Amino acid sequence: MLYIGIDLGTSAVKLLLMDGEGKIQNIVSREYPIYFPNPGWSEQKPEDWYEQTMIGIEELLANADKSQVAGISFGGQMHGLVILDKDDNVIRPALLWNDGRTYEECDYLNNVIGKEKLSQYTANISFTGFTAPKILWVKNKEPENFARIAKIMLPKDYIAYKLTGVHCTDVSDASGMLIFDVKNRRWSKEMCEICGITEDQLATCYESYESVGCVLPEIADKLGIPHTVKVAAGAGDNAAAAVGTGTVGDGMCNISLGTSGTIFISSKNFGVDKYNALHSFAHADGSYHLMGCMLSAASCNKWWMDDIIGTKDYAAEQKAIEKLGENHVYFLPYLMGERSPHNNPNARGTFIGMTMDTTRADMTQAVLEGVAFALRDSFEVAKSLGIKIERTKICGGGAKSPLWKKMIANILNLKVDVIEVEEGPSLGGAMLAAVACGEFANVEEAAAKIVKVVDTVEPDPALVAKYEERYAQFKEIYPACKPLFEIIR
Ligand code: XUL
Repeated sequence: MLYIGIDLGTSAVKLLLMDGEGKIQNIVSREYPIYFPNPGWSEQKPEDWYEQTMIGIEELLANADKSQVAGISFGGQMHGLVILDKDDNVIRPALLWNDGRTYEECDYLNNVIGKEKLSQYTANISFTGFTAPKILWVKNKEPENFARIAKIMLPKDYIAYKLTGVHCTDVSDASGMLIFDVKNRRWSKEMCEICGITEDQLATCYESYESVGCVLPEIADKLGIPHTVKVAAGAGDNAAAAVGTGTVGDGMCNISLGTSGTIFISSKNFGVDKYNALHSFAHADGSYHLMGCMLSAASCNKWWMDDIIGTKDYAAEQKAIEKLGENHVYFLPYLMGERSPHNNPNARGTFIGMTMDTTRADMTQAVLEGVAFALRDSFEVAKSLGIKIERTKICGGGAKSPLWKKMIANILNLKVDVIEVEEGPSLGGAMLAAVACGEFANVEEAAAKIVKVVDTVEPDPALVAKYEERYAQFKEIYPACKPLFEIIR
């Protein structure tokens, strides 16, 4: 049997075709535009996602035995607000996970409703990227659109709806809406009230590995696949990536270096970080996880390479980096503001420490190290909760760089396990589809059979010690700059 995993990302949709033994048959990717209509705003058109996903599925299956396709599922960019009218038409472009416009609504939620109540209802507090403040923003700033809302969906759920006609979501993605009672895996009545919505405006919530229905006959015919193909609810991209890297069960860690950067820690038990700096979400394997999310990770390097230096040869730039742990230049990677752990949409990207002998390689190194130091900030919060992690998996575009993996291993003092297929969310999506179709008894069994570690990057104690000193300096920069971020506009 064949399974399709769809990773609905921010820069592109990535599709993967996997057989029942976990062998990858094909991978394709289709890009779509992202719009920044105002500083700090970030939007995409759900219609673009669907169009490119359909073309992508056709490309993916071009040389496959289509009669063998049994299941489809997803990893999707989280938190995005998709609103549909009573005829299921998209009302306005989706507000994305890295959109920072909702600072007033966040302030209202965190300080008028209060963090304690939010945490009690949802296990989380409000961040600008989360969905509830976006709903309030539409209510406050676009009342005519708010009045037309019949359904509120997350990005991947719009695709599931188009494929099946079912308004569905899953527990991991719903967790990032701030309307979901994470502990009890159900919508929060209190949060619906606070947002001025009713529960029937929300989708039906499934476990990630559950089937929500079959593809609509007309879609199956268009794609040439059987009418019996099941669509599983899927997961937010980080939970799907965790499945795809075998980060399931208790106390496992995955780092994703994509547009965003995340550190994801799986847990059999529900738990909340008392500072709410880390997100406490449901996992796609039926359990829970804690996660720190930085808004710009591999995108910092992409910005520095493509837009500033003007090169596509990332490997050549990294070859010139020689002195790890000795760089006197630092970079704060807050190009879109920052989520974890600072929760500050006004934070900005910053270089500091240059002298007349600073080279282009030092600056490139500072960008890569800045992302790793910022990930360590979230890791430190996890450690402060008594969580003991010695090793991590890694995935995402940035994980293709051996140098970046070495920096992560030494800056976080973690063994970094490199896996055979680093596709993350699309592989996780295909695995969830396979579980929904009965190919595996559960997500843990699928991960045990499919995910293979092929190498480990070990931290080197001498380099760890050097980076320890660097990190102590890095930690001082954000608090010193913070007052400036409030006035620089
Ligand atoms: C997680 C988050 C990002 C997006 C990226 O909370 O906002 O990782 O899911 O697609």
